[in-house]
Amino acid sequence: MNDQTQAPQGLSPYVSVRWQGDTLGQLELLDQTILPDRVEMVPIRSVQEAHEAIVALRVRGAPAIGIAAAYAVVTGMQSLVSRRASIGESLEHAKSLCDYLATSRPTAVNLFWALDRMRRIIDRNSNLASALELSNQLLREARQIHDEDRRMCHAIGEYGASLFEHGSGILTHCNTGGLATSEFGTALAAILTAHYQGKEIEVYADETRPLLQGARLTMWELQQHSVPSTLICDSMAAQVMREGKIQYVIVGADRITARGDTANKIGTYGLAVLAKHHGIPFFVAAPSSTFDLSILDGADIPIEQRKPEEITLAFGKRTAPENVSVYNPAFDVTPAELISAIVTEVGIIHPVDEQHVRGIVRR
Ligand code: MRU
Repeated sequence: MNDQTQAPQGLSPYVSVRWQGDTLGQLELLDQTILPDRVEMVPIRSVQEAHEAIVALRVRGAPAIGIAAAYAVVTGMQSLVSRRASIGESLEHAKSLCDYLATSRPTAVNLFWALDRMRRIIDRNSNLASALELSNQLLREARQIHDEDRRMCHAIGEYGASLFEHGSGILTHCNTGGLATSEFGTALAAILTAHYQGKEIEVYADETRPLLQGARLTMWELQQHSVPSTLICDSMAAQVMREGKIQYVIVGADRITARGDTANKIGTYGLAVLAKHHGIPFFVAAPSSTFDLSILDGADIPIEQRKPEEITLAFGKRTAPENVSVYNPAFDVTPAELISAIVTEVGIIHPVDEQHVRGIVRR
């Protein structure tokens, strides 16, 4: 056992999203495109800047996108508050902000979940007198979404950590830590909680091509928390499993259907197949806001297609000849039958099927 049992219930040493001040305050994001070189909070001064930040992955990870979008609605209302626009105009404008932000990324359902909550505030408050009063309500809701996510992360951490035996190797993919959420994370929260409980674990992080969220972000977060960890290329996972170094795989999710099919970062499905072949439990960790109970079949989850340059001009360096044909889906779908359990803030779903999903996630 290590001696680091004091650290967490506390806060993450960094935050991905924060709101400074009151309704006329400012949204700030930790710019994840420049990590691990620089740790910089960037101000978001307009809803267009927020949209760009989500598309460019300055803020990324399903829960963090939802939180940032909720605050961005408040940012987009500020000019109306300043010029004391009528409540009628303010309500219409607030709705159009939600519609616009919903066009930023298609797969992570937390974005639509958070914007639906903001829309409900707009619909419920047509009796208010001013843009300021409406914006105050919207900021309250955004803060609420943010606070709930903090609590969800900690609960997922506790449930998830209970799955890991002392002395295990744990493989994870993409980034699911404090950077991808309000703080602490989902799959990474399970790992960090186990670490701070004193369980001896070794984390293997896939680098996560093409944008290296595992190498740049997960390895950085694991370092901040002093968790023993090793970086591997995505293509090494099978070999590392075969060598007996991995006892569990745990990943996050961008959207989970009512029967448990799970969209997550491209490469996740392949890992699940490999885990099955090697007899290794494959866990997903996600808050209930990541479930889309209106969909049963994972084939109905919209998969984001991203620019070819992410593969041919990786981080500004030419990595393939010009004019090659490229296919760049950002996510894949792991069928429920390959998932051993899904860890949520309200309990662990096992076995993963419609009955057990609906038994735990009640919305
Ligand atoms: O394209 P990204 O970096 O936003 O993809 C993120 C993931 O796939 C994460 O695993 C998922 O959002 C869960 S974050 C807690």
